[in-house]
Amino acid sequence: MDIRFARLTGPSQTLVDIFNRWENDPVLVPLTRPNKNKEELERQEAVTWDVLNKRLQQHPNYLIYMDDQLVGEMNYMVDPGHLYRKIPGTAWIGITIGEKEGQGKGIGYQAINYLEEQIKEKDLKRIEIGVFEFNEKAHSLYKKMGYKEIGRIPEFTFWQGKMWADIRMGKLL
Ligand SMILES: CC(C)(COP(=O)(O)OP(=O)(O)OC[C@H]1O[C@@H](n2cnc3c(N)ncnc32)[C@H](O)[C@@H]1OP(=O)(O)O)[C@@H](O)C(=O)NCCC(=O)NCCS
Repeated sequence: MDIRFARLTGPSQTLVDIFNRWENDPVLVPLTRPNKNKEELERQEAVTWDVLNKRLQQHPNYLIYMDDQLVGEMNYMVDPGHLYRKIPGTAWIGITIGEKEGQGKGIGYQAINYLEEQIKEKDLKRIEIGVFEFNEKAHSLYKKMGYKEIGRIPEFTFWQGKMWADIRMGKLL
């Protein structure tokens, strides 16, 4: 299996279509986007060319390929307002392996390792990550990669009839 990462600098219609599919996938939405209630959870969100373009201007974004198939994306923001610990020089990371066949094969592990290297090259010293408490797969991966829990934000997102916490994890580079 050949895993490859590529910096994404500009949108294409194919990418807009793929991001739309991932960001509205009923299996992925509860894991990747906080929702206040059932209506928000079920809401479709259009990723337009302009939306994607704006995102790419603001935050570094990388595509994840498995044997030349695009299976996911990851990105980081520097010092966003929603950090749990507002320590300057912190990267907030997000990852979605949108294609099911790309999950559970060690790609997330390799992808985060790669993202950590990119972040280190920018002289950032710390990473913070948020994971909903029911997302055991992501939580276990982050723990294995050395991320330590720094706090929990209760009642953060709605899923399966109730509210769940956001677990915040941090790692010094
Ligand atoms: C969560 C997600 C990023 C994990 O990526 P993944 O590629 O599926 O996970 P991996 O195959 O790398 O890791 C799976 C397991 O192998 C372990 N692993 C993989 N490669 C490893 C390695 N080289 N060394 C040690 N452990 C490794 C992981 O720690 C994890 O352990 P577990 O089975 O005990 O849970 C991915 O499944 C995903 O995007 N899911 C949907 C969206 C989502 O949940 N995003 C995250 C929101 S916070």
